[in-house]
Amino acid sequence: MPSVLVTGANRGIGLELVRQYAADGWQVHAACRDPNAAPELSTLAKSAGGSVSIHALEVTDEDAIDRLAAALRNQAIDVLINNAGVAVRDGMSFGSTNPESWTRAFAVNAIAPTKVSEALLPNLLAGKGRTIGMMSSRLGSHAYNTGSYLAYRATKAALNSVVRTMAAELKEKGIVTVALHPGHVRTDMGGATAPVAPVASAAGLRKVLAGMSAEKSGGFFDFEGNELAW
Ligand SMILES: NC(=O)c1ccc[n+]([C@@H]2O[C@H](COP(=O)([O-])OP(=O)(O)OC[C@H]3O[C@@H](n4cnc5c(N)ncnc54)[C@H](OP(=O)(O)O)[C@@H]3O)[C@@H](O)[C@H]2O)c1
Repeated sequence: MPSVLVTGANRGIGLELVRQYAADGWQVHAACRDPNAAPELSTLAKSAGGSVSIHALEVTDEDAIDRLAAALRNQAIDVLINNAGVAVRDGMSFGSTNPESWTRAFAVNAIAPTKVSEALLPNLLAGKGRTIGMMSSRLGSHAYNTGSYLAYRATKAALNSVVRTMAAELKEKGIVTVALHPGHVRTDMGGATAPVAPVASAAGLRKVLAGMSAEKSGGFFDFEGNELAW
């Protein structure tokens, strides 16, 4: 049975990824900040008959990352999806920078996915899939930058840089690392009027990840499989 670990699995795109992988027969490790405050994920895990296990993970907490790695020691993980992320609602434009919220978003959106990947590298090396999907955003692309979302863009651009570094450095180990854009999705972050349903986004992302190869490592793909410019 292939296995996947998804961070930020209690709502939004992460929850839908868990739902779809479980329905497809995968072993799913669903990581979320507070399992006791994740009713939809808990219900999903109960109905999945043991194929979904829930793990506590505040992604910026290095001790929590270590505890997760210890709990999963010697278990293969085929696909790691670093999905947890935060928007930056203040400091949207030049002239209103809020260093505190920017720093916090960097910790969640750029540093944490790197640390989680480092901690779970042995698990990925024990698996066959050897794929890491970093949930980036089109807003992190320099090429498409038309202003606004100043701090959020910067955090996702930093994550994109990490993807390029990891792809280069993990190539010899056979690990594929890619940046993903899920579309503008109807979640708490994307808003109620966003055009893409979580179901369609997750289905597309799963297809993109399933089609990964060494040649595509270090790429930036949207949920429809289109390659994006950096
Ligand atoms: N929705 C969009 O249109 C869109 C577009 C481009 C990129 N993205 C990216 O896609 C990913 C998922 O977005 P979404 O729309 O599903 O967002 P969402 O509905 O706001 O969900 C965000 C998820 O991340 C988790 N999270 C945030 N900070 C965390 C932390 N410090 N530790 C652990 N978990 C944390 C949240 O957990 P809590 O419930 O505990 O807060 C939640 O599970 C994000 O990386 C986002 O940047 C989304």
